[in-house]
Amino acid sequence: MKILFIGDVVGDIGCEALAKALPKLKQDYGARLAIVNGENSASSGNGLNVRSVKAIFDAGADVITTGNHAFKRDSACEEYEQYDTLIRPANFGNAVPGRGWCELDLGSESVAVVNLVGTAMMLPADNPFRCAEEILPKINAKVIIVDFHAEATAEKRAMGYFLAGRVSGVFGTHTHVPTADEQIIDGTGYITDAGMTGPAESILGVKRDIIIQKFLNYSPRYYAVASGECEVCGVCADVDSKTGRCVSIERFRRIVGFGNFN
Ligand SMILES: [Fe+2]
Ligand SMILES: [Fe+2]
Repeated sequence: MKILFIGDVVGDIGCEALAKALPKLKQDYGARLAIVNGENSASSGNGLNVRSVKAIFDAGADVITTGNHAFKRDSACEEYEQYDTLIRPANFGNAVPGRGWCELDLGSESVAVVNLVGTAMMLPADNPFRCAEEILPKINAKVIIVDFHAEATAEKRAMGYFLAGRVSGVFGTHTHVPTADEQIIDGTGYITDAGMTGPAESILGVKRDIIIQKFLNYSPRYYAVASGECEVCGVCADVDSKTGRCVSIERFRRIVGFGNFN
């Protein structure tokens, strides 16, 4: 079973790029399922909202994962209650709305998607490693994909090795820059970061001058989403649905221009 995993969608422009790219990506890879991180998909980037959740599902996503910006918008709380396949980090605990993992019944096979957030150089959350261990015994699906939304490469690689042989994929998000370490560890597909879906000529999706000024003058600024052609970054994992083991993983970075997709 081919599974597409796509990194953080940034703003309206990222949603548009996803809508253009995803149908062709699904076709090119023969993908059965698309998992998309939508934590930055609201118009101005931070968080997600009613419009962006709909846009990502309409683009062809089967599951939307999130991260540290999961609750930046008030309306997001209702969205988590409305959609079973919109998930937020499981290690946020039970005090927040929504669920941290979901299972999809695809007829002859089923897939579980788990969302976790890192704690190194991130805001406090429950221990993601212990949280994963609590969740795994509750899952019936053979195929299990984990979106580990974290800053530190060491924490992400630690999660990859920690869950190796126990899940089908551990795919990192949050840094918006794809890493070149896609690999299979004991039957578990792994990449430290899948990258983002948003403006290519930007700093993590934000207008370049804003971030340069931030570092130059230490001036806090409103983070406006950049414009221009977009990158759509992620991986395609081929998972044996009988064993749950990943047999191949391929990284992709597609460019979506204005009005055309190449
Ligand atoms: Fe993000
Ligand atoms: Fe994030």
